[in-house]
Amino acid sequence: MKVLFATSEVWPLLKTGGLGDVSYSLPHALTEKNIDVRLVLPAYRDVLHELDSFKTIGWLQLNLAGVTRDVRILEATHEQFEMPIWLVDYQQLFDREGNPYTHANGHDWPDNAERFALFSMAVAALSLDKLNIGWKADVVHCNDWQTGLVAAFLDHEPERPRRIFTIHNLAYSGSFSKEEFNRLKLPSAWWSMEGVEFYGNLSMLKAGIVYSDAVTTVSPTYAKEICTAEFGYGLEGVLSSRSYKLSGILNGIDTKVWNPATDSLIPFNFTAQRRNPGKQKNKKALLESYGITADKDKLEAPLLGLVGRLVEQKGIDMVLEAIPRILAETNANIVIIGTGHAYIEAQLNQLNQKYPERVLVFIGYDEEKAHLLEAGSDIFLMPSRFEPCGLNQMYSLSYGTLPIVNRTGGLADTVIDIGETVAESADFAAAKDSEEQAPKPNGFVLDKANTEELIKTIMRALSTFENKKSWQKLQRNAMTQDFSWEKSAGAYIEIYNG
Ligand code: ADP
Ligand code: GLC
Repeated sequence: MKVLFATSEVWPLLKTGGLGDVSYSLPHALTEKNIDVRLVLPAYRDVLHELDSFKTIGWLQLNLAGVTRDVRILEATHEQFEMPIWLVDYQQLFDREGNPYTHANGHDWPDNAERFALFSMAVAALSLDKLNIGWKADVVHCNDWQTGLVAAFLDHEPERPRRIFTIHNLAYSGSFSKEEFNRLKLPSAWWSMEGVEFYGNLSMLKAGIVYSDAVTTVSPTYAKEICTAEFGYGLEGVLSSRSYKLSGILNGIDTKVWNPATDSLIPFNFTAQRRNPGKQKNKKALLESYGITADKDKLEAPLLGLVGRLVEQKGIDMVLEAIPRILAETNANIVIIGTGHAYIEAQLNQLNQKYPERVLVFIGYDEEKAHLLEAGSDIFLMPSRFEPCGLNQMYSLSYGTLPIVNRTGGLADTVIDIGETVAESADFAAAKDSEEQAPKPNGFVLDKANTEELIKTIMRALSTFENKKSWQKLQRNAMTQDFSWEKSAGAYIEIYNG
């Protein structure tokens, strides 16, 4: 089976969040199951710099906005990739510094509609072997709004591949004005309620949902949530009326990259069976990396960690409100790594200035620091308001860093509260085969996303932390859970088969 996997970011070439991780690890898991995968993404400047080598494999002539453009297709290799990487090279739109979606000033690139419409057009053409290189896709697997138009461009192609669209986050819809739709000269037949039109705008996300043969999202619970008004961003009707083709498949994690036994980015490796002294030594290294003297008291005090995009989705505002209370009432310390909204970054810096020994902050994107935080913290904070899947809680569980999460999306499907019986965690159980071993408690779950509930749950976690026996049991449960792609990759193949 030939699968063209289209994405707007992929680790380690270019990543802004979990989509980058999944775009690397899922295609590799598919390759292990003998699927012939080609990965395709735009030839951003930063990606070209990362590659070992690339060559031109052909040119596509694509007409967008009334202009015929010569788009070069590159085939690249990189030591960490087991499959060829195809790049859609159109310098005017992709040869830019930095972030794939936004300008350095934080605003979206003004020509994003044109950029991702052209990319999607190229993906559709490649899937049909318009390059005449003898590789025609059986399946085109698209991800998020940036690739939403692929399915639409293929709609009238009689020999088209099966179209799969995965929603990683419904909050980002790829919405553009009617004027932009007209300017790009996209087919007028698309402009309807059953097409790309969404409250008077063009929605590339809706295009992916409407025109694809199957729609997936990244956890079973999120698949249900997005069919409701609370999580659907107005698309709940579109989604629930298409529930026959909608399913939730839990993301896996790349156990070569995120494995405390082999992780080369952490100073001390450890396993579920032999956690200490490795984990404790990482804690010391983590504290020292922020210039803190890691004496006995500091090492014994619980350390809470957080890595993530500093946006409302992640519940970071609740964490900011909770911090002063937690510091006043307990001996816990906190370390936070992230980038995002400027006002959140500023508030974190202020907390660090006020409590330099107890609130440790790194504003920026740094993978090595993220790995050390996962390895060296005791508790991971992830009280997201919604979370399609979430990878960080799974990384934390694998590293014996017990997560505090809100009961939503993929967090509900992966974290079982210490006080919960397995029967209560119906969604988690539903996500697993009945013959599989029942999941065991591995963390702390808020029932509602608010600051009071977060503080209460942190206090509950901190009092469990005092009880070394209970804590170790939870850590063992967490670290022996299977988060590999093995099962989920199989579920995607079933969907590819139709
Ligand atoms: P989302 O995709 O919504 O951002 P996920 O939990 O699925 O959330 O994935 C986030 C990924 O991005 C994880 O691999 C996480 O470690 C990484 N990440 C986020 N922010 C940073 C940062 N500031 N430095 C390093 N890694 C980060
Ligand atoms: C999105 C979601 C996150 C998910 C990731 C990968 O960025 O916010 O929950 O884990 O995609 O699917």
